[in-house]
Amino acid sequence: MAEEQLTAPSSDEASGKRGIHGAWSSRWTFVMAATGSAVGLGNIWKFPYIAGENGGGAFVLVYLLCILLVGMPVMVAEVMLGRRGRQSPINAMRYLTQEAGLHGTWNAIGWLGVTAGLMILSYYAVIAGWALYYIGQMASGTFQGASADQAGVVFGQLLSSPKELIFWQSIFMLLTMAVVVGGVTRGLGVAVRILMPLLFVLLVILLGFSIQRGDFARGFNFLFSFNYEALTWAGVLEAMGHAFFTLSLGMGAIMAYGAYMPDHARIGRTVLAVGFLDTLVALLAGLAIFPIVFANPTIEPGAGPGLMFVSLPVAFGNMAGGLLFGSIFFVLVTLAAWSSAISLIEPAVAFLIESKGFNRITANLLLGGIAWSVGLGSVLSFNVWADVTLAGFNFFEFMDFLTSSVMLPLTGLFIALFVGWLMKPEAVRSELMDESSGVFTAWHWILRYISPAAVLVVFVMGVYKTFS
Ligand code: TRP
Repeated sequence: MAEEQLTAPSSDEASGKRGIHGAWSSRWTFVMAATGSAVGLGNIWKFPYIAGENGGGAFVLVYLLCILLVGMPVMVAEVMLGRRGRQSPINAMRYLTQEAGLHGTWNAIGWLGVTAGLMILSYYAVIAGWALYYIGQMASGTFQGASADQAGVVFGQLLSSPKELIFWQSIFMLLTMAVVVGGVTRGLGVAVRILMPLLFVLLVILLGFSIQRGDFARGFNFLFSFNYEALTWAGVLEAMGHAFFTLSLGMGAIMAYGAYMPDHARIGRTVLAVGFLDTLVALLAGLAIFPIVFANPTIEPGAGPGLMFVSLPVAFGNMAGGLLFGSIFFVLVTLAAWSSAISLIEPAVAFLIESKGFNRITANLLLGGIAWSVGLGSVLSFNVWADVTLAGFNFFEFMDFLTSSVMLPLTGLFIALFVGWLMKPEAVRSELMDESSGVFTAWHWILRYISPAAVLVVFVMGVYKTFS
């Protein structure tokens, strides 16, 4: 069974329990798969740099609140929808909309999500390409004894070369497509189970270096002291968008994985485990990176997307065994990105196979090709198109803003409204029968009142302030 978990199910809409989904062999397989999706560049690369750009402390607190009050409740809802729908997100939503007797426009949840996934993948592959490039640089000793200045130069050279960027972006995209063609769990499922813990260990080793040789107190304070002045509505929107991004919510990835949940697995505690692991990795990455940043005056906390690619090589280049640890680290970052990337494309692939008669290979070639082409825009935004902006964003920033801060939160809002207000409470309760009534009531209440209100207020204020 385990081998077939993520190959596309064929839909059988007439039958009671839709589709022919097998189930994950256990709840833990789901935890591993969902964690593989959740833990990725968002945790190690993106969280530290956006926390840095938004002044640290208060941003981190808002982010944690969003995880708790919006992210986790919506994740429960997504898993639940996926399990009840038992198909690719688009078709699952179609089925559930009918079941709830609603108008077909609610299907937009599925469509919006699939589109967002491909758009994220487009730039995700570019950044993951940087990690691939860094494996070789680490191993060959480029950063041996490097200063922050020198590390900055190496990174700058990479960004200035479209050819180099496209080469690594293409390799990563091919890796992703290869796995999705072969069925998701076979190779990567196993790899993720072994390598994710290793990534964790390496982050702890890096943390050890930071404590010893970095300015740990300042890094810690930066992340955890509440500096209210640095916080803006635009930052709050970014924090909320990132809560969706880092938990892989709002695009059907978790819904697609939920479709394979065993009928009686407890969704609540499963989601807690995934959210906890994801948050832990992000905080560890932040704690490893910022002490190094503050110990090297040439690196700014607000340096942007290059933050980890400049600060961590300095750490590795100056620690015993750094060449080895550094190379392994970037291998693991690539793997973490890989297991996330497959969840960005899988829902769309599953849909093309289920409903449009594609086979796995053509579906992957088509969708991977689209994401790759759109990604060229991000590649160029780091060099040739650096000055081309739309509403103050370059191409990469625009894609990131549009997906993380607009599409994911909106889909999340629709999901909260759909499950909280439109689905029959008995249907929701029957799907979550194994939760205690206290847990269920608390979750349902938060999902009905708190999550949508929070998303709405943050979204409206954030968009307004971002553009004014
Ligand atoms: N969560 C992943 C990360 O933090 C990225 C990701 C994978 C994602 N699947 C997703 C983001 C679905 C949004 C939606 O790197």
